[in-house]
Amino acid sequence: MMNETIREAFNKQINAELYSSYLYLSMSAYFESINLAGFAQWMRCQAQEEILHAMKFYDYVHERGGTVALTAIDGPPTSWDSPLNAFEEAYRHERKVTEMINDLVDLAIVERDHASNNFLQWFVAEQVEEEDSADKVVQSLKLAGHQGGGLFMIDRELGTRVFTLPTADTAE
Ligand code: FEO
Repeated sequence: MMNETIREAFNKQINAELYSSYLYLSMSAYFESINLAGFAQWMRCQAQEEILHAMKFYDYVHERGGTVALTAIDGPPTSWDSPLNAFEEAYRHERKVTEMINDLVDLAIVERDHASNNFLQWFVAEQVEEEDSADKVVQSLKLAGHQGGGLFMIDRELGTRVFTLPTADTAE
């Protein structure tokens, strides 16, 4: 059984992960609107991954006998100045999510909820990857500058990303 403080904090994180999905889906729509199909595909995969993050919290709260209470998801921005600006925002957003996860770890320690601390360690590792993958695209876009050819190459590369549902082996 999880205590009320942890339950509330985890419910908030479900909302934050769903907002992340909403944000990246909005970014995907933005890239569709400027005919960068590869960027759009990358963001679409990212949006799907965020739903998995939300569902991990959702399942965990239930597993610990807690109640999930879904709340309204804020509307994300709908346009950005440039592909670089969108990815800089994605990178900034991931750094913010890392802070949220770190706060949850701190809370689990204060509440002496070792199981939740253990559960959160998956997210601690995942955030290293999340920040890195967004930052890598930021750096590539900076290198490409205003050259259309560079943008085209990055678009082609990002378009190879595929979303795969985790198997029983990779889900934990
Ligand atoms: Fe759920 Fe991108 O962190």
